[in-house]
Amino acid sequence: MTDAPLRTDWTDRLARGTAPDPAALRAHLRTIHRDHAGFTESCALRCRDAAGRTSYARLAEAVEPDRHRVLLDVACGSGPLLELCHATLPPGMRLIGIDMSPEELALARARLPAGRADLVEAQAERLDFLSDGSVDVALCHWALTLMDPVAPVLAEIARVLAPGGRFAAIVDGPAAAAPGYGAVHDLIYRHVQAELPAYGTVDLGDPRVRSAGDLRALVHAAFPGARVRVETGVVTMSAPAEALAREAAGFFYAAFVLSPAARVRMLADLAALLSGIAPGSVPTFSMPINRLLVDLP
Ligand SMILES: C[S@@+](CC[C@H](N)C(=O)[O-])C[C@H]1O[C@@H](n2cnc3c(N)ncnc32)[C@H](O)[C@@H]1O
Repeated sequence: MTDAPLRTDWTDRLARGTAPDPAALRAHLRTIHRDHAGFTESCALRCRDAAGRTSYARLAEAVEPDRHRVLLDVACGSGPLLELCHATLPPGMRLIGIDMSPEELALARARLPAGRADLVEAQAERLDFLSDGSVDVALCHWALTLMDPVAPVLAEIARVLAPGGRFAAIVDGPAAAAPGYGAVHDLIYRHVQAELPAYGTVDLGDPRVRSAGDLRALVHAAFPGARVRVETGVVTMSAPAEALAREAAGFFYAAFVLSPAARVRMLADLAALLSGIAPGSVPTFSMPINRLLVDLP
């Protein structure tokens, strides 16, 4: 194992105090997803809300099989949401997934029956292969938060959606909604900032997506006349502290830029924190989520 932390054009810009650049952001994300394909589902499939639903299931509830015939999963990653849609929605529904990471798409292809979904390597801001109004429901699980600029992505989703169509997304919710989440976030960022001080003053994606009010404004601008709802929820997972620390850290892209030695220290501190959040009970990590629902006129 080398002790070299992940450094990309994006982290170099951060270190130099230069403004983030969309191409550098995409290259940084591609590198992380090339080296750790499937990490999102590894965490997200373990987290459940009070009704026992994963955030994928919560998002899939936005699909109305009676009127939605063509479904697009924007930034489908390794394909857990498409797999769920394949398993629970009518077989006649057309499933399309796009992602810019070939390694993630390879995992998505492997888990779905051949030909069941159209899986396309593409950037969310350029869905040229889809014609205007050709999609009934577009879903996006935990990826909108990474996109900057996000307005062209929303505009592209608005273009491909049919009149009366729906866009639904899971994005980060308010930290205060999930007990202990802020402490976990701050601990990870403290470790990252010891090696890369500017991480956090600049972060991945457009920060407006993380605030319900700003997100509403962005969405209203992109989908004129649409009905917009943002619903806050919490998903949690419980496990022995060391395992929980590894899984919880997996939710934070920031943790991927730590050097291996710093990562070991961070995981030890995080395990100690998670053991202390509810002494005597099984350690639990809570994650705030917002479900965005946009109904076009
Ligand atoms: C956190 S993962 C979520 C993956 C999947 N939706 C899930 O929840 O399991 C984010 C995904 O967004 C993709 N992504 C990020 N920015 C993108 C963009 N501008 N265009 C297409 N894909 C993008 C990444 O390649 C990655 O697969």
